[in-house]
Amino acid sequence: MDKLYVNLGVNSYNIHFTDSFAGLAEGLDDINAPKKLLVVTDTNVKKLYADEVNSILLDAGYDSSVYAFAAGEENKNMDSILGICGACMERGLDRKSMIVALGGGVVGDMAGFAAAIYMRGIDFVQIPTTLLSQSDSSVGGKTGVDFKNGKNILGAFHQPKMVYINVNTLKTLPEREFVSGMGEVIKHGIIRDGEFYGFIKNNSELIRSLDSGTLIKMAKCNCGIKAEVVEQDERENGLRAILNFGHTIGHAAESALNFAVTHGECIGLGMVAATRIAKNRGLVDMAVLRDIEFVLSEYGFRVRMPLPDADIIYGYMQKDKKKADGKLKFVLPKRIGEVIETQDVTKDEIFDAIEYITAPE
Ligand SMILES: NC(=O)c1ccc[n+]([C@@H]2O[C@H](COP(=O)([O-])OP(=O)(O)OC[C@H]3O[C@@H](n4cnc5c(N)ncnc54)[C@H](O)[C@@H]3O)[C@@H](O)[C@H]2O)c1
Ligand SMILES: [Zn+2]
Repeated sequence: MDKLYVNLGVNSYNIHFTDSFAGLAEGLDDINAPKKLLVVTDTNVKKLYADEVNSILLDAGYDSSVYAFAAGEENKNMDSILGICGACMERGLDRKSMIVALGGGVVGDMAGFAAAIYMRGIDFVQIPTTLLSQSDSSVGGKTGVDFKNGKNILGAFHQPKMVYINVNTLKTLPEREFVSGMGEVIKHGIIRDGEFYGFIKNNSELIRSLDSGTLIKMAKCNCGIKAEVVEQDERENGLRAILNFGHTIGHAAESALNFAVTHGECIGLGMVAATRIAKNRGLVDMAVLRDIEFVLSEYGFRVRMPLPDADIIYGYMQKDKKKADGKLKFVLPKRIGEVIETQDVTKDEIFDAIEYITAPE
């Protein structure tokens, strides 16, 4: 099975890439997982994969059961965390027991956070089942929940002991979720790896038709890029900021649109906007901007969209929790595969970029 070692000292772990759940028990045996497990999932993923996963664990001699909370970002809150912790107590999990997070980024963030605080922290593993979680959120150890309209306000860094990626779970994922996940995938290519970007560009048919071999390669490259960034900056003091490419304007647009458009699509727009700023500054030429727009379109993104007024989006940008000393941080491409960070992007440049990505109604 394909594996990737994420090197974080005592917090190091392996990510497995495969097209079934057949190797799951072996993966757990390899990390000497405790017998007592709780599979934490959401109500959608429970119907699809929880029985299969739980049977594999029971057959391999683990004392495992399933707990599901209501699916959806709106349930990413402390009430659900208390539900998970309650299930841990009821099922008799102790300090040596382990949580198995089965689902998308919401499940990973919440099951990971519950594991971080239950009995002052127990181990957990991740089985990500969305493209976003297989390429982004399952690597890096950020866990948490939303609080009072703020995203990921309460949380902890807690690294998993293993990540097990079965790319065939993407076959049941709604297409819209797949497209959204491609936003972060394309982002990884642009910020760090021109060759990977070329792979995405040249294999859009195989990727869109969910060819397992191609998806495994893609997942491995993706996690490799994210892992390399995280290894150098586990606690987000420096390099990890480049992962915010496309997010300064994209995230504000997402809020201004009241989350009617997916995160990935907004990040796609945000990447176009940031590249427009880079092009106007002479950092990249028009061909790079066009190429990024082309690749996004190939994957079903809209690269222009009717948007609220620029000053409304700009207003949301001021609430960005990643602002440093009151200044907006931007990540701009220098070429495909390399970006720079800057805090000197002007309001005029931002307004021009927002205008550029705005389609007439
Ligand atoms: N920890 C991090 O570093 C990090 C990074 C990026 C995003 N996130 C978080 O991730 C979350 C978004 O994750 P997401 O996009 O995976 O959302 P999600 O977990 O809500 O999954 C999206 C939807 O797909 C369903 N689903 C999951 N797997 C499925 C499958 N295989 N087949 C069919 N349906 C399936 C889910 O039930 C849900 O309805 C956000 O809360 C975000 O804050 C965390
Ligand atoms: Zn993102």
